Amino acid sequence: MKLINKIKVAIDSPAAAGAGTQARLISKHFNLFYLDTGKIYRLIANIKITQPKKYCYILIKKIMSKLTMKDLQNKKLLSDEVGTMASIISKNKEIRKLVHAFQIKSAYHPPKKYNGSCLDGRDITYKIIPDADFKFFITANTKTRALRRYKELKALNRKISFDEVLKSIKKRDKSDYNRKISPLKKTKDSVLINTTKHTKRACFLKIKQIMNRKIKT
Ligand code: C5P
Repeated sequence: MKLINKIKVAIDSPAAAGAGTQARLISKHFNLFYLDTGKIYRLIANIKITQPKKYCYILIKKIMSKLTMKDLQNKKLLSDEVGTMASIISKNKEIRKLVHAFQIKSAYHPPKKYNGSCLDGRDITYKIIPDADFKFFITANTKTRALRRYKELKALNRKISFDEVLKSIKKRDKSDYNRKISPLKKTKDSVLINTTKHTKRACFLKIKQIMNRKIKT
């Protein structure tokens, strides 16, 4: 599909709600550049875990200035420990400022071969791309999200119990929804997609229909 104007899709969601899956499907279908912004916070969190003595503003600034999409593909970033640390370091205003520029560039200046961009995270719909053409808030109930994340982690051979995953999802929700800076919230102009009782495909078809309606008029 070739679109005349570049389109911007903004998605916010709590952990493990299926936003990444939907963002990937949308991006593939509409040929959009996809950025999982959580991965950037995870990359910084991983530095905090693995190099606690070196971790400082200057180091993160340097890493952010050279950041490439390849850096975000590290499988180590998917662990629960890194996710929990990401929700701690992402409360920091200075860290968020450093991450901001990379997100803006990805959203507003994606590589030329794409028809636009699709970003998912916690503050994308109201802070990073407030003028997005499409805004979605993707969610699911806590137990469903914990079960999905548990299965993902098990598939990666991580030693973790369902109860531990559930506990950490609840902790992360509490932190992401209640923090002062860039809290997770559903904006009035975002379409709510609850994935609890629907298959990946059913959710994708709903999103695709919403987008096609606007693109084709
Ligand atoms: O999406 P993911 O679970 O990978 O994000 C990890 C953590 O990074 C989140 O729990 C959240 O605290 C933080 N994050 C954020 N803003 C974003 C994306 C992620 O604060 N745009």
